[in-house]
Amino acid sequence: MFSRKVLKELLEATTRHPGGLLVLEENKPKLVILDYLSYQKMTMGKLNLLPQQFAGTGPKILVTGGAGYIGSHAARHLIAQGCSVVTLDNLSTGKKEFAQGKFIKGDLADRELLDEIFTAEKIDAVMHFAASIEVEESVHDPGKYYRNNVFAGLNLLEAMAKHGVKRIVFSSTCTVYDERAASPLAEDAPLNPTSPYAETKLVFEHMLFWYAQACALQSVTLRYFNAAGASMDGSLGYAGENPTHLIPNILNVALGKKEVLTVFGNDFQTHDGTTIRDFVHVEDLAAAHYLALDYLLSARDTKPIVEVFNVGTGQGHSVLEIINEACDRTGHMIRFEVGPRRAGDRERVVADPSKISKVLGFVPKYSDIATIIDSAWRWHKAYFK
Ligand SMILES: NC(=O)c1ccc[n+]([C@@H]2O[C@H](COP(=O)([O-])OP(=O)(O)OC[C@H]3O[C@@H](n4cnc5c(N)ncnc54)[C@H](O)[C@@H]3O)[C@@H](O)[C@H]2O)c1
Repeated sequence: MFSRKVLKELLEATTRHPGGLLVLEENKPKLVILDYLSYQKMTMGKLNLLPQQFAGTGPKILVTGGAGYIGSHAARHLIAQGCSVVTLDNLSTGKKEFAQGKFIKGDLADRELLDEIFTAEKIDAVMHFAASIEVEESVHDPGKYYRNNVFAGLNLLEAMAKHGVKRIVFSSTCTVYDERAASPLAEDAPLNPTSPYAETKLVFEHMLFWYAQACALQSVTLRYFNAAGASMDGSLGYAGENPTHLIPNILNVALGKKEVLTVFGNDFQTHDGTTIRDFVHVEDLAAAHYLALDYLLSARDTKPIVEVFNVGTGQGHSVLEIINEACDRTGHMIRFEVGPRRAGDRERVVADPSKISKVLGFVPKYSDIATIIDSAWRWHKAYFK
């Protein structure tokens, strides 16, 4: 233990030298003393030394859609960093048992409920995951997407403005980019959403811009590429019964829940003819959210912020490569047939993750394909057995 005097000197020294201190002995580095945020950044939150009694003493975060696939992982990560979490979810696709922290069942369209939450909870920042997310459905039922992703989202922003909550991390998507734009895609690649889903996500991004001008809102938009995998301890994962994502569909074949996988087109200009995507592990996505939050919490209160980051790995994998890897990792044959291309399917969609790596220090830890499939398979077998 340090004496009170030494501790006081150390604290003063870390205030003078933000980040931490290097202690030398005979001119050689002997000891590193880091402030807690720098330590969390270096370990990406994977090593949590925060003693139990401090859990929940950090900022209070409202997580909309926190009972869903990505929101539940992010909420759990926040709690591990000492934040307290209020989860708001209408359980339209989410599961109550996935919700972390304090759970409120309710809909973002319910403005009175939002006012009650912001009055009762003293929220420091919002992570906004709640949305309708199926591209194909959005083409057939655009109204549902404008109502949920735009109108209900606007309710959230208005309630935040009224209650003086200034910080928000928003889940957007790589489908906002123009399908003719070449990969790897940086944040300044041309935008041109081609479905109501993607368009409503971009509309919300624009709303964040205008609220920044109007009332100094501070936002980080994370444009995810393909979220995949399940929590490393096997307790959370993707729970959709009729998945549209590739990996859960492959695992349904491995589990015998589905007879054959359809591969949509094998005549693309890629090395094996199938489309190429950038898969990012859901635990890495959760860590990216915490880094984004930390970025906002470290900024001055009055400064408007509108930041956008791609969250991907920069590595592309073709559909056939994923199927082969899934055969290896699960030990099951994955039967597939080749069907026609889907309308609007792009050849190659891979992120340029340089900006998030440089500005937020994001380094994916679990996003290699073997770890993604192993974690998803562990979850899938246990949950859907
Ligand atoms: N899964 C991906 O690969 C991916 C890729 C890019 C972006 N995103 C975005 O990430 C976010 C989370 O996606 P996910 O895959 O976890 O989907 P999900 O369906 O599992 O999660 C969405 C959650 O929001 C809840 N919800 C929906 N509308 C609501 C409302 N009006 N009020 C309260 N709760 C509501 C649902 O019940 C669900 O729990 C979405 O905004 C999505 O657009 C996902």
